[in-house]
Amino acid sequence: MCGIIGYIGNKEAFPILINGLKRLEYRGYDSSGVALLQNNESIIYKKKGKVSDLENFIADSDVSGNIGIGHTRWATHGEPNDVNAHPHTSLNGHFTLIHNGIIENYGRLKDVLVSVGYTFKGETDTEVLVNLIEYIYMRGNVNAELAVHYALAKVIGAYGLVVLCKNEPDQLIAARKGSPLVIGIGEGEHFIASDATPIVEHTNSVIYLNNDNVAIIKKNELTLKTTDNDELTPNIQKLNLGIGEIEKNGYAHFMLKEIFEQPRSIKDTCRGRISLEEKSIRLGGLHAVMPKLIDAKRIIIVGCGTSWHAGLVGEYLIEDFARIPVEVEYSSEFRYRKPVLNDTDVVIAISQSGETADTLAAIELARSAGATVIGISNVVGSSIPRETNAGVYTHAGPEIGVASTKAFTTQITVLSMIAIELGMKRGTLTPKESNGLMEELILIPEKLERIIKMNDSFEKIAALYKNANNFLYLGRGYFFPVALEGALKLKEISYIHAEGYPAAEMKHGPIALIDENMPVVVIAAKDNSYEKIVSNIQEIKARKGIVIAIVTEGDTVIREMADHVLEIPKADFALAPILAVVPLQLLSYHIAVMRGCNIDQPRNLAKSVTVE
Ligand code: AGP
Ligand code: GLU
Repeated sequence: MCGIIGYIGNKEAFPILINGLKRLEYRGYDSSGVALLQNNESIIYKKKGKVSDLENFIADSDVSGNIGIGHTRWATHGEPNDVNAHPHTSLNGHFTLIHNGIIENYGRLKDVLVSVGYTFKGETDTEVLVNLIEYIYMRGNVNAELAVHYALAKVIGAYGLVVLCKNEPDQLIAARKGSPLVIGIGEGEHFIASDATPIVEHTNSVIYLNNDNVAIIKKNELTLKTTDNDELTPNIQKLNLGIGEIEKNGYAHFMLKEIFEQPRSIKDTCRGRISLEEKSIRLGGLHAVMPKLIDAKRIIIVGCGTSWHAGLVGEYLIEDFARIPVEVEYSSEFRYRKPVLNDTDVVIAISQSGETADTLAAIELARSAGATVIGISNVVGSSIPRETNAGVYTHAGPEIGVASTKAFTTQITVLSMIAIELGMKRGTLTPKESNGLMEELILIPEKLERIIKMNDSFEKIAALYKNANNFLYLGRGYFFPVALEGALKLKEISYIHAEGYPAAEMKHGPIALIDENMPVVVIAAKDNSYEKIVSNIQEIKARKGIVIAIVTEGDTVIREMADHVLEIPKADFALAPILAVVPLQLLSYHIAVMRGCNIDQPRNLAKSVTVE
């Protein structure tokens, strides 16, 4: 939900901070700022807008210093402006702090601070926290570390924070509860950031902070403690991330790069997991819980946004192949709904970032009820893989574009493998069926390559409808979730209102919207309800609607009635959602480009929603 970067070492901190902020900007971009320790004073530069606006604001200012922190904000309390931008300094100037998360009891804490004479410049919860630390530091006559410990003991909410104290200029203090932080270990230097993307070019030795961890970070020394002040042994891990994976490598946008990467991502997702020779699927991360999955009375899938859409595809897959009842829940609804759970339930939590607050809370609820919880995530070392009993990484590679693309198709690929393996183990798939599905899955990447080669045709259609005010997306069965996902893609990057609907539901209301100005995208690839979707297209045409149809290559029926036809290669319709979504990703991408929208950082959004 925001980007945090800190550096302490012998190099000039500013270049590391500003480049780090550029790599983190996808996480939140309402404002940004840096603080540098110069002659035991905290010098702050912060600005509403993009990191480039901050750079222009800084211009030729003095940015010297070997210790510093930086932040890109996604506002939760207080509008995005210069004053509310991070870093925040305490009233008497002793502390400077950056924060990712929400201090839920900030109002009450602020009242206490005001009652003892504190005044505030902005409206953020973060400014309350930095002043609380200072108040305890001055009133309690304790060192910076203890002041942080005592202050956090009074805080309710989520934080990933880094704080520096001008009177103790040889250290940074970091603390984590709910919002991610990772420390990079260099030679005589340390880095701290929200994720590994700004660290990977400096070191591949990292420590992922856990909840209730506090780190005291000096140039040559790192002490890890709990918020109760008990010392911990750091768990140093090696990053398996290459710098090339987090750069555009010649693409105009990360989103386009990630759409085009999908053939490789799906190969990586399947690699070492599907053996056509042994006719088996091996998901090592599920080995310990496979008996629970096989005997599950019910599987509940939780997720948000695109991950929730992938979960809907998972419902069709698992019920179809393994005949286990599946429910799909928005994480945010599930966690507040007092769901009836027991120890025969299996919960699958899907999250690209592995940090989505609502999904983390859903996991905690499910585990407290005794359910077995499995995570499907894309970020190694993120919170969800560490909070679940077992899991599967999608191996899609870093997804920087805020609009999720390769995460969706790799999530469906993992769900397909889970469903096929369960079908084999439960005997609800014959060997012929399961072998056929495995062979189909292995062929998906090359079919995706063929779709991507048709990119120009998607661009031509985008040009025709880039000024539409509304779109409808319709699909049936496995393609209904794809309709929802296509609508979300268009909404979030082009700002055109779009709605996904089960095609049959159109006649129960939405058909009133159809007229000659309404483009309707219909996912009409060959499946067991093809004849019905053909009728739906005729109903739309009878009302002068514009039909953009995704069809199976060679379809001649729909070609006669639709305004535009986008072909996808033949595939088992249970696996065809992976193919059918790509024309919708590219259609949205081109429309958004033509509308001059910010593709990788759409307004109001952030890549990882680590606040509720
Ligand atoms: C997808 O395009 C959106 N950016 C958003 O809905 C996203 O899928 C959602 O926030 C869930 O994120 P997660 O997969 O990291 O949990
Ligand atoms: N709640 C803090 C604010 O609104 C931090 C938001 C964030 O995570 O960027 O400034």
